[in-house]
Amino acid sequence: MNKHLNRRTFLEFLGRGSVGLSVVPAFMLSCDPSKKPKDDGPDQNPVSQVLKGIDPSDEDKVVLAEGFDYDVLVKWGDPISDKDQFGFNNDYIAFMPDSAENPNEGIMWVNHEYTDPRFVSAFTGEQDKTKEQVEKEMYSVGGSIFKVKKNEKGNWEVQNNAPENRRVTAQTEITFNWQEPIAGSDKAMGTLANCSGGITPWGTILTCEENYDSFYGEKDFNTGELTRSRFDYGWLEFFENPSEHYGWVVEVDPKTGESQKHIALGRCAHECATVVELADKRVVVYTGDDANDECLYKFVSSKPGSLSEGTLYVANVEAGRWESLDYASQEVLQENFSSQTEVLIRLREASKLVGGSPLDRPEDIEIDPVNGNVLVALTNNIPKDNYYGSILKLEEKEGDHSAMTFATDTFLAGGEDTGFAAPDNMAFDIKGNLWFTSDISGSKMNKEPYLAFKNNGLFVVPREGEQAGQVIQIASAPSDAEFTGPFFAPDGRTLFLSVQHPGETSPSAEELSSHWPEGGDAIPRPSIIAITGSALDSFQGLA
Ligand code: FEO
Ligand code: CA
Ligand code: CA
Repeated sequence: MNKHLNRRTFLEFLGRGSVGLSVVPAFMLSCDPSKKPKDDGPDQNPVSQVLKGIDPSDEDKVVLAEGFDYDVLVKWGDPISDKDQFGFNNDYIAFMPDSAENPNEGIMWVNHEYTDPRFVSAFTGEQDKTKEQVEKEMYSVGGSIFKVKKNEKGNWEVQNNAPENRRVTAQTEITFNWQEPIAGSDKAMGTLANCSGGITPWGTILTCEENYDSFYGEKDFNTGELTRSRFDYGWLEFFENPSEHYGWVVEVDPKTGESQKHIALGRCAHECATVVELADKRVVVYTGDDANDECLYKFVSSKPGSLSEGTLYVANVEAGRWESLDYASQEVLQENFSSQTEVLIRLREASKLVGGSPLDRPEDIEIDPVNGNVLVALTNNIPKDNYYGSILKLEEKEGDHSAMTFATDTFLAGGEDTGFAAPDNMAFDIKGNLWFTSDISGSKMNKEPYLAFKNNGLFVVPREGEQAGQVIQIASAPSDAEFTGPFFAPDGRTLFLSVQHPGETSPSAEELSSHWPEGGDAIPRPSIIAITGSALDSFQGLA
């Protein structure tokens, strides 16, 4: 199914624009602060390795293209210390090596997005859920921090009981970084719905609270009533936490576990938070609200290294303009809300009032390391018959991430011609090749109109060589699963990847649609895999 893109898209993809490799901040590369682009760059050293892609698969296994291998690094329930275990439904991964001299050892942060009561708390629905069951589920989400190391055989291993190893969960106390209380409190109980994220230039993690309404519902601010999600987990029976405490971007120091929720970045179903550092050390954070007809945002700080002082903007794609969500300067916000805090809590309503464009589920965002373009995965919008999704390219005016105007174009469109549907998480490798995963939901997978794509996959778009611009499938996920959190080790020789929600459509914990990764009669376990291999190396020009 690897098809050539049309020539215009291909040339745009090459996009050797205003920003050279050497001036791209190192941390922008796959959000990895230790990674630097190769000095020779793609121009001088074109990649000639031809990749042999795979056909879509509906097997309950990780299928990989020739020359690629994988190991399971860690799976749900595995101990990371005598006290803590790896959580459920892992998503975003960040690997931060200890030093440039020792890139094969470092701290890994992993998001745990949501729970599955059948597996996590043995809840069958036949009896009321107990507080103990709720607490098991609360422990299964949030994040995991643990040391990893590549051993002498070249395999990655978790360093059990390393001093940094700890969990952040739905019961960890987290303060709000804001001058006013949020729903009457200066702190929240825990973080949850942790989907994708990002890394700051100062080496902390941003973890994004996406579908938070499944846990404590969502307040209707006009009536004051709480609306519970159709996926409600029943936690409210035991923990009456306000819905306003969730839906934020949370910063975590991976060395200490210390966390804070950043109110200035607004409250919505944040998919990710992608940080760009400006020349004067101020930062720009791009973030998407993953829901049908929701918006794309960017925060521009007014001070170096601040995620609390600055202005939040929403993208008006039709006008090619960032619209300010600053209460003091927007009359329409003053007419509808009482304060900046209320604007940030009720972000979806505020963004429509200032002209934010409804988009087709803006999910992951990556900055092209070669030309500085902002790529935004628009996964799909099924009510509008957009099943296959696309990747949007946003070019800030003169390549300036703090610019107030921009141009957009469709960079890649999903469909049977291009061989993928529902693009989601993305990562650039050290040669600037774009890797991305697909997110066809479990209930729709292997059915029309997604039948041809079979299980979710991992894809790469080579930047150079005879396959430049083609979409090549490199991996296929086990039954019902989605690959998430692609993150390259700094030397490019390992791609860490989450395998999330295998077996999600199982009718019960006894009738399973997946037994991955252990096989046999085992229950499925969300896991991180480490992809390596000669094809991964040679594709990036590595000996
Ligand atoms: Fe958690 Fe939008 O994916
Ligand atoms: Ca996602
Ligand atoms: Ca997703």
